[in-house]
Amino acid sequence: MERRGQLYEGKAKIVYATDDPAYYIQYFKDDATAFNAKKRGTIVSKGIFNNHISSKLFQVVEKEGVPTHFVKTLSDREMLVQKLDIIKVEVVLRNVVAGNLAKRMGVDEGRRLPHPIIDLHLKNDALDDPMINEDTISAFGLGTREELAQMRAYALKVNQILQSFFGGRNVDLVDFKLEFGRCPSQGGRLLLGDEITPDGCRLWEKGTGRKLDKDRFRRDLGQVEEAYAEVERLVTR
Ligand code: TMP
Ligand code: ASP
Repeated sequence: MERRGQLYEGKAKIVYATDDPAYYIQYFKDDATAFNAKKRGTIVSKGIFNNHISSKLFQVVEKEGVPTHFVKTLSDREMLVQKLDIIKVEVVLRNVVAGNLAKRMGVDEGRRLPHPIIDLHLKNDALDDPMINEDTISAFGLGTREELAQMRAYALKVNQILQSFFGGRNVDLVDFKLEFGRCPSQGGRLLLGDEITPDGCRLWEKGTGRKLDKDRFRRDLGQVEEAYAEVERLVTR
């Protein structure tokens, strides 16, 4: 598979065309942003850690029945993926109160929820990724009710799989964000896209609550690279 022209540059990745229209290459950068790019920086080797972490986690969820765009790891920073038409909705699943939920509800971080919460956000940095609901998504033609039901079901399934995966590695999966897309070469079938990495998950060491995710960068907690390296070690061991 040959890499062709750049199609899109996001905050953490670049997407390239290949010589086959059904496939793209995702290139993982070291650039880090937070608060919808109001804070910017670099996390040394993050692109390599995230490519390795996401490659492994896509294979883990795929094996348990959640279809993803992952095809194979091509190099330290490159992943071959199926071409997707990304649905402009971010699906956030939460097991424990943290981040925006703590702020919105006026409560402290750390309380375990009696059941997972799924929040839906419009994928639009210029608008600060506002929270939206299913009616809005359907009325604006972002996705159908059937697609939304499928996205929710996949998010809950990914949660079960990854809670167990991280639990076995002494890490609590606090929350995470997923993106889905329609795969043109599979008749528009819904696949999990984007990435599953500490950029878009909260991971707390069990017992101590030590943060092993992008909150170390967002909140200037130090030892940012070390946390990504630790997650890579845990995930790929
Ligand atoms: P939040 O508490 O800021 O809403 O974030 C919840 C989780 O979802 C957290 O692990 C970060 C992730 N997330 C993103 O990666 N990108 C986003 O745009 C949003 C809203 C959340
Ligand atoms: N992913 C978003 C950004 O980079 C939000 C965040 O991670 O805080 O700005």
